Amino acid sequence: MSAAAASAALSEEGSAAGGLPRLLPPPGHGGDLASHLSRHGSVPYRGSARALIPEIRAARLTGRGGAAFPVHRKLETVAAARPGRAVVVGNGAEGEPASHKDQALLHLAPHLVLDGLQLAAEAVGAGRVVLYVRHDVRARTRLDAQLSERYARGLDRIAVELVSAPARFLAGEESALANLVSAGTAVPRFTPPRVFERGVDGRPTLVQNVETLAHLALIARFGPGWFRGLGTPDEPGTMLCTLHRADGSMNVAEAIIGTPLAGLVDSPGASAVLVGGYHGAWVAADQLPWLTLSNASLRPVGAFTGAGVLAALPADRCGLVESARVTRYLALESAGQCGPCLNGLPAIAAAMGELAGLAGRRPDPRVLENLSRWAGLVEGRGACHHPDGTVRFLRSALQVFAAEARLHLQGRCSAASGRPFLPIPAGPATDADWSSP
Ligand SMILES: Cc1cc2nc3c(=O)[nH]c(=O)nc-3n(C[C@H](O)[C@H](O)[C@H](O)COP(=O)(O)O)c2cc1C
Ligand code: SF4
Repeated sequence: MSAAAASAALSEEGSAAGGLPRLLPPPGHGGDLASHLSRHGSVPYRGSARALIPEIRAARLTGRGGAAFPVHRKLETVAAARPGRAVVVGNGAEGEPASHKDQALLHLAPHLVLDGLQLAAEAVGAGRVVLYVRHDVRARTRLDAQLSERYARGLDRIAVELVSAPARFLAGEESALANLVSAGTAVPRFTPPRVFERGVDGRPTLVQNVETLAHLALIARFGPGWFRGLGTPDEPGTMLCTLHRADGSMNVAEAIIGTPLAGLVDSPGASAVLVGGYHGAWVAADQLPWLTLSNASLRPVGAFTGAGVLAALPADRCGLVESARVTRYLALESAGQCGPCLNGLPAIAAAMGELAGLAGRRPDPRVLENLSRWAGLVEGRGACHHPDGTVRFLRSALQVFAAEARLHLQGRCSAASGRPFLPIPAGPATDADWSSP
C-alpha cells in the first residue's frame, strides 16, 4: 500500500499532542528515526520493571489486535515472572486479508512500535524481544536497517529479533505465533495454558498487537489523561481502521473511538458493511446511522470493532456470494487439528456455496436449517477461536442477507455484478506454508 493511501483521513490538528493523528505521522513528517525523535523524543524508559503498568491501567488501553483485552492485565501477569525470563512479542502478522493497518503503521511509524516493544519489555522485565511480521522482503530489509540504527544509537536496551510470519489467517493467533517463534509451525494449540503463562519456549510471553505497542509508547510520553482525552470513557483513544468503500477504494485511517460509522465508511448505495473483518459481522446499511466505532455501540447488533476493518458492500453485489467466498477461504485456513473445525467448516462452506448459487444447482430447501445446525456443532469446539469467528460471520450473513437467501432458494439472485469485492488471498499451496518463510 502506498503511503498516500495510508493517510490519516480524519486529521484534525496534525499533532500527537492534540487531536489526530496520534499514531500516523502528520503530512510532511516521515517515519525515519530523525523525524520520529524530533516529534516524540527518545524512548521514555521508566528505569524499573512494572513502573509503567499503573499508567497503562489508568489509560484503560485495550489491545488493537481484535479482542480488545485490557493491556495492563497481561502486563501484570507477565511481570510476575522471574526477571529476564519473560518474552515480549510485537504481533504484526496481520493474517486478516481485509486489514492493512499494521503494515501501514510499520511502514509509516515503525519507531513508535519499536519504542513500545522496548517499553513493554522493561515493564515486564523481559529478557527477549521479538517482532513478528508478515513476510515481505522489502519491509523486512527496511526494519532490519531501522533496528540496526536504533541499536547503534543506544535506543534499544534489548536487541529485537525479527521473525517472519507465514501469510496465513491463523499465523497471528497468539498460540500459533508462540509455536512458530519457538521454532515450530504457526498452528494454534489448546489452551490453557495461555501464552502469558507458557508461551515462546515455555516462557511467560507478552503478545501485543503492533498498534497496541504504538499506543503504549505514546501513553508513556503523554500520560493516561492525554490518552483518555479522545474516545469514549469506556473505550478511550483512537484506532487504526482499514476502510473499503463501495467504489472499490481503500485506505487506512486513524479514527477516534466513538466516531459515527456512517461518516467513516461514507459509501452511498452500499447495502451492508462488514465490521471487524472475516471473524466479524455484517451490519445492514440502514443501521449505520445509529452506530459508532465502539464495541458498546456495535455489541447489540452482534458486531465488534475487531481489528478495525470496515468494508461497505456495493449495492450491485450479492452479500451471499461474498460471504460464501469468505467462508470457503476460512474453511481452507483451518489448521486441521480439531475434528469439528476440520470437518464442520468445509461442510458449512459447501452449503454456503450452494445457497449462494456457486454450486451450479438450485439450493436444497433444507440448506438454511443445515447451516444453522452445523454452526451450532462447531461453535466453541476448537483449540482456537477460528470456528467461533467463522460462525459469527456466517450467522450475520444469514441474518443481514435473509431476503436475498429467500430469493436464492427460488433460484434467483438480485446482484447485477458477479465481480468479487472482498479480498481473498490466492490460498495455501502446501503444508510448508505454516512455517516461517
Ligand atoms: C484466528 C485468529 C487470528 C489472529 N490474528 C491476529 C493477527 O494477525 N494479529 C494480531 O495482532 N492478533 C491476532 N489475533 C489475536 C491474537 O491472538 C492476540 O490476542 C493479540 O495479538 C494480542 O494483542 P492485543 O491484545 O494487543 O490485541 C488473532 C486471533 C485469532 C483467534
Ligand atoms: S479450531 Fe480449527 S483452526 Fe483452530 S486449532 Fe483447531 S483445527 Fe486449527
